[in-house]
Amino acid sequence: MSGTAFLMETTAAPTHPVPLHPGLPFLGNTLAFVRDPLTILHTLQRKQDRIVHLRIGGRNQYLVFQPEDSKHILQENNRNYGRSPAFEVLKIFLGNGLLTSDGDFWRRQRRLAQPAFHRQKLAALAETMIAETADWLDTLKSADLTQPVNVSQAFMDVTMRIVCKTLFGSDTSGKLDGLSHALDSLNYLANSRMLSPIRFPMSWPTPNNQRSKRAQRQVDTFIYGLIDQRRKQHEDKDDLLGMLLSAEDEETGERMSDQQLRDECVTIFSAGHETTAVSMAWTIYLLTKHPDILTRLQAESQTVLGDARIPPADAFRRLIYTLQVVQESLRLYPPAWIMSRRAREDDHIGPYTIPAGDTALVCPYLLHRDPANWPEPERFDPDRFAPGGPKDKLHSYAYLPFGGGPRLCIGNQFALMEMQILLALFVRRFDINRASGQTITPKPLITLRPNQPIQAVLSNR
Ligand code: HEM
Repeated sequence: MSGTAFLMETTAAPTHPVPLHPGLPFLGNTLAFVRDPLTILHTLQRKQDRIVHLRIGGRNQYLVFQPEDSKHILQENNRNYGRSPAFEVLKIFLGNGLLTSDGDFWRRQRRLAQPAFHRQKLAALAETMIAETADWLDTLKSADLTQPVNVSQAFMDVTMRIVCKTLFGSDTSGKLDGLSHALDSLNYLANSRMLSPIRFPMSWPTPNNQRSKRAQRQVDTFIYGLIDQRRKQHEDKDDLLGMLLSAEDEETGERMSDQQLRDECVTIFSAGHETTAVSMAWTIYLLTKHPDILTRLQAESQTVLGDARIPPADAFRRLIYTLQVVQESLRLYPPAWIMSRRAREDDHIGPYTIPAGDTALVCPYLLHRDPANWPEPERFDPDRFAPGGPKDKLHSYAYLPFGGGPRLCIGNQFALMEMQILLALFVRRFDINRASGQTITPKPLITLRPNQPIQAVLSNR
């Protein structure tokens, strides 16, 4: 091909407008999305093969359907995509931590924090997780089990304790309840501000703003006090804060400032406990509907862990089926059900263009239920994740509960290990049955929650 012909072909490359999903004048697709996003997403998936243009909240948003295109946005062309405006709200509460930051600052923080989440370092945290779970189970066991138990709340409590203990270790002794309460209020207030259509300036003395300030003061006093104390002690502790304190940038030799450490701790708390708790509650819900899978899980837990109240940490790695159950539950109910990115420059997906300044959407919830990749997608079948099984033959972006590319969840191994521990010890202790009168449907807020707290009838084994 001559040079001129090549030039002509590229300049004339067709870029088609992305098909627009029709909506209401002015409001576009906003109402449909506020009312029932999952139904509309399923409908769109059936109608469109590659990408659809939506108008939500006055913004142009482009939703991709294929694993290849999700990979393009999250990984191959990730440098073209930044945090979407939604993250600005979170910044008020979480500061400039891994979740909310962008660009070179984020890259440096990620480099510094990554080693703390290395598999070997996590092994040290497993013992804390097991001990906290055992204490929590003792409390549950002595509760009134003649009534259904609110498992959503129960898992929220234990994941909060686990994240506080793994972050701050023994320094939380005697302070855990106050601290986790303050961190949880901050998290709750951040979420409600993010979802609220009206946001008063933070300087106005509204009740929520005042609660936020109080919680923020309490959290800051604790974390800054602890950082100060640790810096004076000059001894390395193997909790997450200890690892972050000693982390050194291999390129510059720099360490994190007090403010950065504070922001990362609050971020890890916020990103780390609700997602895991919600996912555990969904897992229990699925097990109440599949007693055969529960029985198989209980058999594995009993065989591998035996009867010891605190089984050795390395035993949990042998809980293969337990991990499959967790993975399949994350497929059906991925807490991070949709991810958004803002395009810095025009981007091209096949013949289509995502314009600079607009938002690209990647939706794990849809990818995980695409019948092209997952036969009978609604069926709960942990064997999909058996070693060498169907999942291993799929495109790597057909399954992304933890996102993908450089912004892959830094806590993914932490979360899987925690869920394996929680689930195995829970089913070893209890039989689980459905509570009558509950109709559970997914409610997509910031995370994919059940529409009401999940209740289950527990009985000691
Ligand atoms: C089932 C549990 C969890 C799920 C489903 C989950 C999911 C995710 C997803 C999808 C992202 C990427 C968001 C995006 O690309 O926009 C993310 C980021 C993140 N997650 Fe998780 N997560 C879980 C547990 C945890 C835990 C336990 C921690 C910490 C202990 C954690 C810390 C973080 C942090 C700090 C980020 C931001 C990473 C960055 O941008 O560099 N997550 N998580």
